[in-house]
Amino acid sequence: MSIHKVLVQPSGREFSVASNKQTVLAAALQAGITLPHGCKHGACGSCKGRVLSGRLHHDGHTAGALTAEEEAAGQALFCCAHADSDLVIEVRVADALDGVTPRRMPARIEHIEWVARDVARLTVKLPAAEHLLYRAGQYVDFILPSGARRSYSIACMPGDEGPIEFHIRHMPGGTFTDALFGTTTPALRERGILRLEGPLGTFYLRENDPQPIVLLASGTGFAPIKAIVETIFAKGINRADPVTGRRARPVALYWGARTQSDLYLDRLPRQWAQEQPNFRYVPVLSEPENDPHAGTDTPAWTGRTGLVHQAVMQDLPDLSGYQVYACGVPVMVQSAHRDFVAHCALREENFFSDAFVSRADLPAATA
Ligand SMILES: Cc1cc2nc3c(=O)[nH]c(=O)nc-3n(C[C@H](O)[C@H](O)[C@H](O)COP(=O)(O)OP(=O)(O)OC[C@H]3O[C@@H](n4cnc5c(N)ncnc54)[C@H](O)[C@@H]3O)c2cc1C
Ligand code: FES
Repeated sequence: MSIHKVLVQPSGREFSVASNKQTVLAAALQAGITLPHGCKHGACGSCKGRVLSGRLHHDGHTAGALTAEEEAAGQALFCCAHADSDLVIEVRVADALDGVTPRRMPARIEHIEWVARDVARLTVKLPAAEHLLYRAGQYVDFILPSGARRSYSIACMPGDEGPIEFHIRHMPGGTFTDALFGTTTPALRERGILRLEGPLGTFYLRENDPQPIVLLASGTGFAPIKAIVETIFAKGINRADPVTGRRARPVALYWGARTQSDLYLDRLPRQWAQEQPNFRYVPVLSEPENDPHAGTDTPAWTGRTGLVHQAVMQDLPDLSGYQVYACGVPVMVQSAHRDFVAHCALREENFFSDAFVSRADLPAATA
């Protein structure tokens, strides 16, 4: 086993990696240096950066996360990259997460609410002595009895001593969500114990930056966006502060789903829009007419239709001065990233995302 040095630019931080034993990302996290990451399985592209010097090789990854052209041009996915020599890499370090260390802890399921036909709102309580320190937008891993992990974004703002909230969509055939939705036995029930590790990920609100904010969610991608919005309101980020001279950051939330009943907490952002200044809510449905759960009294949809990221592009064709936070199904996150940067002048460094990849999206060897 060889040990190689990795220098991260432009921050100048350095760590060592045991080449075949660890990925570059795993070694950085172990050294307390938070490089960007999401799925950690070569499927989302969040950990992408540039190799300025040195050699590395990749474990399996999807072409969507890193294309052959990008790899040939010196880009790498550090979550599945192994160093073959000392390296100098270029990637943004998430300094704000220094000191936010993931920990393992048990959690008791306090309440399960079925908010849509395939979405559960789950709250869990930690033991009295435990406290989860996290940033709005981050996620935790549930560690299943087999040792397998499933990631879920925290849907409530940090700092509250209350239960921790998650929004979980059923994926038929999935190990964890089949158990939660009672398709397999033993089903998960209130008062059941889960083991979790967190906080994880580098998708979090950059609270001190000045740009207006676009929030983009598809399906249960609304979960971390809810935590971010609650933090924005609690800290008054959407309001000007005459004492410090800070300007208000306007916030636009676009939430995409197939049908009305898939917007499982639609009333909440509607209420925010009525109560809060500088906050806009735009729900966007891709198949409003195909709602098997619409009753005869459900009014026909008169709102926006189509793909949610395209609604943003119609309303905000110039995103050069904005920050975008996107979360949900991988195809939405990847399309938003590609199209906002290519067609709306969004600066690469102002796009933050978590793609909800599942085993179905992983490279074949990993799945
Ligand atoms: C950072 C992050 C945050 C996330 N946050 C959330 C969240 O807040 N809410 C949420 O709902 N989801 C979230 N997810 C997705 C979530 O982690 C799970 O992937 C999802 O809930 C499925 O878990 P499961 O155990 O039920 O399914 P899995 O057992 O992982 O299976 C998923 C699907 O893949 C199929 N499958 C299984 N094995 C294979 C294989 N070998 N090849 C092809 N297909 C296969 C299954 O039939 C099933 O349909 C997040 C994911 C990430 C990476
Ligand atoms: S974290 Fe590396 S591809 Fe998702």
